This record gives sequence, C-alpha cells and structure tokens, in this order.
Amino acid sequence: MSHAEDHEGTRRDFLYYATAGAGAVTAGAAIWPLVDQMNPSADVMALSSIRVDISGVEVGTQLTVKWLGKPVFIRRRTPEEIEAGRAVSVDDLTIDQGAQNANKPGADASDENRTLDEAGEWLVMVGVCTHLGCVPIGDGAGEFGGWFCPCHGSHYDTAGRIRKGPAPRNLDVPIAAFDGDELVLG
Ligand code: FES
Repeated sequence: MSHAEDHEGTRRDFLYYATAGAGAVTAGAAIWPLVDQMNPSADVMALSSIRVDISGVEVGTQLTVKWLGKPVFIRRRTPEEIEAGRAVSVDDLTIDQGAQNANKPGADASDENRTLDEAGEWLVMVGVCTHLGCVPIGDGAGEFGGWFCPCHGSHYDTAGRIRKGPAPRNLDVPIAAFDGDELVLG
C-alpha cells in the first residue's frame, strides 16, 4: 500500500468513526462530566460499565454508542434480518471462529448465539472491523445485508458474521445485559 492510500484509509476511518459516534451523545453526556472530577484509575472504572437507554430504538435501526473508546452497535433487527441470520447454517460459514460473544464463551457462530435475546431482535457488537479496525457501515450494507467495511471490502451478515473479504473474525459481541429499558454494557 502506498503512503497516499494509507493516508486516504486513515481519513476515511475517521469520517466513518465520526458518523458512527453521533449516536453516543446521550450516553456520553451523562458520563463525561463525572469523569472530569476523578483520577485516572477511577475513570477507567467508571467507563468500564455504561447504561444505555434503548427504549427509543425502533425495529430496523441501530444506535451507536461509544464504550471504552470504541463504537458499539446496538441493532434492533427486523424480522427479515432475523430470518436471514437464522437461515445460515454454521457449516456454511467460510470463516467460523465461534460466536465471538463474550456472553457465551465457546459457543458456535449460529445466529442464536450472537444475539442478546432469544427472539433474536437485539444484536450488540463492537463496531470495529476485525481486519484493521475501521468502523463498518450498517443498515443492510454489503452483499449479505448486514455491515460493510469499505476500507478493504469486508462483508458482514445480519448477525455480524464475516462472510467475505479480508476480516479474519466475526464482529465481537461485548458483555451486555438488559435491565428494563436499559442495556448495560460491561
Ligand atoms: S479494516 Fe475493514 S476491511 Fe480492512
């Protein structure tokens, strides 16, 4: 890769990152003022777990929040997205390195093992491409109707599993749990 391409890649990463971060305002606003008054180790503790109000997330939309310096995608999937994800057999995945789900260590990459609820509506993932760290585009992007990373052409399906391109792993699913209308990350 030339320097020019390299630079271009970096610039694009930043633009996607900035776009993805726009949804983080609500969660971030509540946390940053507190952090200012704490020492660094307390900062880390305060940020290691956050609560996100997900009551306004409509079916077919994605909320992106910033957590531990990274974007986290909170997608409320449509019935079609759920169906597409569940129709894929783990055997058909060209790259299967497990669910990559911190809530289910050792589980396989079936759709059921990637989502947070049994119905499969909620998919929560670290929004960082497992290739070189760009932020993939969502809303049905790419050849598999999930996410697409334009940096080097990685296609993720509706469960965030890598299906085509250079990325070596599925998008990571972080520790997450529901608490009423809130999602607790960490
Ligand atoms: S960083 Fe996503 S494809 Fe390279």
